[in-house]
Amino acid sequence: MRTPFVAANWKMFKTVHESFVYVKELARLVKDVVDVEIVVAPPFTSLHTAAEAARNTNIGVAGQDVHFEKEGAFTGEVSAAMLKEAGAEYVIIGHSERRTLFGETDATVARKVASALAATLTPIACIGETLAERERGETFDVLNRQIRDGLGGVPPAELPNLVVAYEPVWAIGTGRTATAEQAQEAHAHIRRQLRETFGEEPAAACRIIYGGSVKPATTRDLVTQPDVDGALVGGASLDVLAFHEIVARSRPEAV
Ligand code: PGA
Repeated sequence: MRTPFVAANWKMFKTVHESFVYVKELARLVKDVVDVEIVVAPPFTSLHTAAEAARNTNIGVAGQDVHFEKEGAFTGEVSAAMLKEAGAEYVIIGHSERRTLFGETDATVARKVASALAATLTPIACIGETLAERERGETFDVLNRQIRDGLGGVPPAELPNLVVAYEPVWAIGTGRTATAEQAQEAHAHIRRQLRETFGEEPAAACRIIYGGSVKPATTRDLVTQPDVDGALVGGASLDVLAFHEIVARSRPEAV
C-alpha cells in the first residue's frame, strides 16, 4: 500500500515569522497522524526556519523549486545541496506557475529531477494539461509528453522516491476542482504510462497526488479514488486549520 502524501504549497506567501508559527501549530495538530506523509513548502526565505520548527515532528519540508546546477553564477537560483542543508527533504519541480510564468520546460524539469535525486531530495514533479489542451482532447498526449521528456531519465529503481503531482492547470487557483472521476481517469492514465516506462513494481509504488483547488470538502472524494494518493494544496493550505483538515481527511481510515 502507498502511504498517502499531502503537501502544502505556500507559493509566495508567509514571512519567516508566519512560517514558524504555522509549523509549530501544524505539528501540534498532526502529532498523532502516523499514516500520512505531511509536507510543507515555504518560500526559500522561510525554509530553514520551517525545517527547524518541524524538527522531531512528522512534518517534512520542501523547496518550491531548485536549480539543476550544483553552483555557479545563476543569480536568484538555489541548488539542491543548499535546500538539503537548509533542512528540506523534498522539492516541488515543474509547477505549472514555473512553466507558464518562468519558462520552465520538460527539459529543465528533467535536469532538476536528476539534481534533486542526486542530492537525495524527493522530487514532487508536477504535470498537467491546460484547459485548451483538455478541450482539444489532448490531455493524455500532454501527460505522456511530460512524463517522457520530464521524468523519462529517472532510473526505474528511483521512481518510488519520486512523487508525481497531477495538477490540471485549469483547476489551479480557480476554485474549479477536477471531479473525482476526472482525477481518477488522469491518475490511472499516468500510472499506466509509468508502468510502460518504468515497469510494474516502480509504477505501483509511486505516489500520484492531485493538485488544483483542493479544499477540505473535496478531499475525501479525491483521495478515495484508487490511483489518487494524496494532494498538493495551494490556497487552502495557507490556513493551518484547513490544511490540517485536509490531512485528517486523507488518512486511510478517515470517515
Ligand atoms: P490551489 O493550488 O490549491 O490554490 O489550486 C494548487 C497548486 O498550485 O499546487
